[in-house]
Amino acid sequence: MKHTDIDHLLIDAIDCARRAGTVALSYFRGGRQLDIHTKSGESDIVTAADKASEAVIKDFIATHYPDHAILSEESGESGGKAPWRWVIDPVDGTTNFSTGLPFWAISIGIEYGGEAVIGVVYVPFTDELFHAVKGGGAYLNGKQLHVSTDENIAHAVVTTGFPVDKDVNPDNNLDNVAAVLPLVRGLRRLGAASVDMCYVAAGFLGAYWELNLHEWDVCASTLIVTEAGGRCTRFRHDRNVSLLCGAPAIHDRILPLLSSEPRG
Ligand code: IPD
Ligand code: CA
Ligand code: CA
Repeated sequence: MKHTDIDHLLIDAIDCARRAGTVALSYFRGGRQLDIHTKSGESDIVTAADKASEAVIKDFIATHYPDHAILSEESGESGGKAPWRWVIDPVDGTTNFSTGLPFWAISIGIEYGGEAVIGVVYVPFTDELFHAVKGGGAYLNGKQLHVSTDENIAHAVVTTGFPVDKDVNPDNNLDNVAAVLPLVRGLRRLGAASVDMCYVAAGFLGAYWELNLHEWDVCASTLIVTEAGGRCTRFRHDRNVSLLCGAPAIHDRILPLLSSEPRG
């Protein structure tokens, strides 16, 4: 892997995210027909915008990097065991998107040999472009990011999310909310994992955790958080990707409060 490879890939990943964002925006708040369908349940949806955004990114990769592998939320894996792999969430925060709320993003992580080396998260509505390169820091619209330095959990505003199987599985994160809520200044549910994590990287939030995520939700933003000086821990292994990230002191304070095994 050469530096020039990384430089070109970063430029291309940013270009892809912006193009996909423009396409997705054309469906937002009364634009083109959304055509909402459910997937695993009523809380798990896909729209025409997710598919159109994914097509923009995958067509670009097929044209410019035909030997790269892809993992993308709406179409799964392709390209076998190539050293380079793009991990794509074409619209993260589809529920927000579908109802007109602004927190949703295009998330593109690029791995080399199984390790994330580039992360790009683009929030089209606010025109916030987050990016990181392994060892090169994390940035928001070109300005370098650092997680919050406030170590007092009583000052922290934190976010979480609730698993899409919350209607059928009582292991739904309310136990963790009950443990964390009394300790923090504010608890939010923004509705897009990649945005939550980038806002931790920027120091806007002290921490974020969620159960039952997937690699496409977190690949890009895990690199962005760590490159901004944050800490990320997969705190249990029986619920897909269950991740806590935060400024180090806040992360370390919350980690022991989260349930590590199913209760009951
Ligand atoms: C979802 C969002 C949401 C989180 C869900 C994710 P999607 O992604 O990140 O905030 O709570 O667990 O599945 O389905 O909108 O790409
Ligand atoms: Ca997602
Ligand atoms: Ca998605």
